Amino acid sequence: MSISSFLTKKFLKSSFFPAHNRGAALPKKLVQLLKNPPGYWDLPELPEIGSPLSQFGLIAKSQREFSDKIGAKRCFFGVNGASGLIQSAVIAMANPGENILMPRNVHISVIKICAMQDINPIFFDLEFSTITGHYKPITKIWLENVFKKLNFDENKIAGVILVNPSYQGYAGDLEPLIDCCHKKKFTCFS
Ligand SMILES: Cc1ncc(COP(=O)(O)O)c(C=O)c1O
Repeated sequence: MSISSFLTKKFLKSSFFPAHNRGAALPKKLVQLLKNPPGYWDLPELPEIGSPLSQFGLIAKSQREFSDKIGAKRCFFGVNGASGLIQSAVIAMANPGENILMPRNVHISVIKICAMQDINPIFFDLEFSTITGHYKPITKIWLENVFKKLNFDENKIAGVILVNPSYQGYAGDLEPLIDCCHKKKFTCFS
């Protein structure tokens, strides 16, 4: 069974504590506005569903399906948009007091999690288009130059963050950039 069909499945009892009642308490005016029953999917971590961190259940199964499809070792579903997962990745990358190298166009979610976790961002500059004023996608030559200018003995780096695509939707070739980071034994998150 898929997650979506499980979430819309009818159960004998529909109140799960604490406070998961499948939308039963939503204001009637809001319910009338929407075509499908809102909040129907509001279920807790039932054994059948599990959670992004459990080994069994529908979530674990579909995470495995996704990671197999894209050839990744693991896949984790997240909540709170891209920001939630970006922040989890940053926390996984560096401990408080450590440095992460990142371009100056990182999303505000990265800056916020660095501030909260006391991680030091080391920013590097980017090329930008004089016509649009937008940052251009980073190239291998650009990243190698950034590495050349840094004194890694003074600035120990826990990892590198790359932004791809950027806020304006520009995307470059990530593979040579990731190779570049891995050659220096840096964890890379893009
Ligand atoms: C490059 C980049 N990273 C992260 C985000 C955050 O995404 P979300 O709003 O899904 O948390 C955005 C949003 O525009 C973005 O442009």
